[in-house]
Amino acid sequence: MLKGKHIVLGITGGIAAYKSATLIRLLVKRGAEVQVVITPSGKEFITPVTLSALTGKPVICDFFTANTGQWNSHVDIGLWADAMVIAPATACTIGKMANGIADNMLVTTYLSAKAPVFVAPAMDLDMMAHPSTTRNIETLRSYGNHIIEPASGELASHLIGKGRMEEPEKIVEVLEQFFATDKPLAGKKVLLTAGPTYERIDPVRFIGNFSTGKMGYALADAAARMGAEVTLISGPVAIKPNERTVEVVNVESACQMRDAAVEHFPGSDIAIMCAAVADYAPADPHDHKIKRETDEIPTIRLVKNPDIAATLGQMKREGQTLVGFALETDNGKANAERKIRSKNLDMIVLNSLSDPGAGFGTDTNIVTMIQPDGESKTLPLMQKTEVAREIMQAITEIHKS
Ligand code: C5P
Repeated sequence: MLKGKHIVLGITGGIAAYKSATLIRLLVKRGAEVQVVITPSGKEFITPVTLSALTGKPVICDFFTANTGQWNSHVDIGLWADAMVIAPATACTIGKMANGIADNMLVTTYLSAKAPVFVAPAMDLDMMAHPSTTRNIETLRSYGNHIIEPASGELASHLIGKGRMEEPEKIVEVLEQFFATDKPLAGKKVLLTAGPTYERIDPVRFIGNFSTGKMGYALADAAARMGAEVTLISGPVAIKPNERTVEVVNVESACQMRDAAVEHFPGSDIAIMCAAVADYAPADPHDHKIKRETDEIPTIRLVKNPDIAATLGQMKREGQTLVGFALETDNGKANAERKIRSKNLDMIVLNSLSDPGAGFGTDTNIVTMIQPDGESKTLPLMQKTEVAREIMQAITEIHKS
């Protein structure tokens, strides 16, 4: 898939730059042509000699080659690229890219590039968590750049947390997936629900849950990469899809989510119910903030929310595939199997809150995919993005049969 592809590899000044050599080896092995553009501080971490020996091309760092005066055209490099990969991407370079600060060859090339851009951040956990970095990464996402999320683990500082550049093997996998000509869901419409729902008590309070939407958004991205036209009905979350083609319909409550799902389901081939829908909503939400002026403790009367998956299960026609999720704390498999039948699902994905690394807010998950005939497959602990790909592949197989 990468054979003959022109990859511009941007290297910045982070310790993870040592991994660039492996990344180049892997890309070249797959038949890609690699042109390195490095920042001045990148050269402090890995030498141009190593990089040019591996790519077979001179490394570009400056606007001019000092001894010949030859101009390095960032426009030409940007146009040559089939993909630009910035790995490692430091907080500094990410900030410059987000704000168009073109004071080096790498950022200038980035601004000229017409090709898809992949950014693999690498930094210390506190830098990674800083609102400035978060905002800049979100800005890059909004430009349509693909963020290859850093992994959690031991960092150069010996602190443990999120910020390790993703391994070169993973970066290559992301690129291979992107260039895969095989789009098994081309022409298919996929509907997803994701995130929590908020049920209003009064204008400032709600009943909700800890769902962050990560699994649903990863599934939406995976489906889009497989060629599907994706509609993602999302409860309130702080994330965005990576794939620009994913259409997001924002909702707040279970009833709004049900209305949007019922509207979109008839035109969908596959529907995946990933949302953590609140089971109950306040029966009489107040128009004004409930005040704490008396000693009387208020009682909130609840009513049952609609079951969106079961509603779609009843609407389901021949040829449509409906998939649900089940988050269980105990009796996982038995409960999941019961839900397959009661909601008329074609598959249920069970994740257990008791497994370390699985559930709300984590970047990883452990899931078991269960089909109506009892056939089940448990995946090992993996990044949610990988879990999403495996699940989408399984759903594609079920939809075909
Ligand atoms: O019944 P339970 O909440 O465990 O079922 C989980 C599955 O049903 C998930 O796929 C979830 O998105 C879906 N669901 C729904 N509407 C509800 C409750 C759950 O779509 N009100």
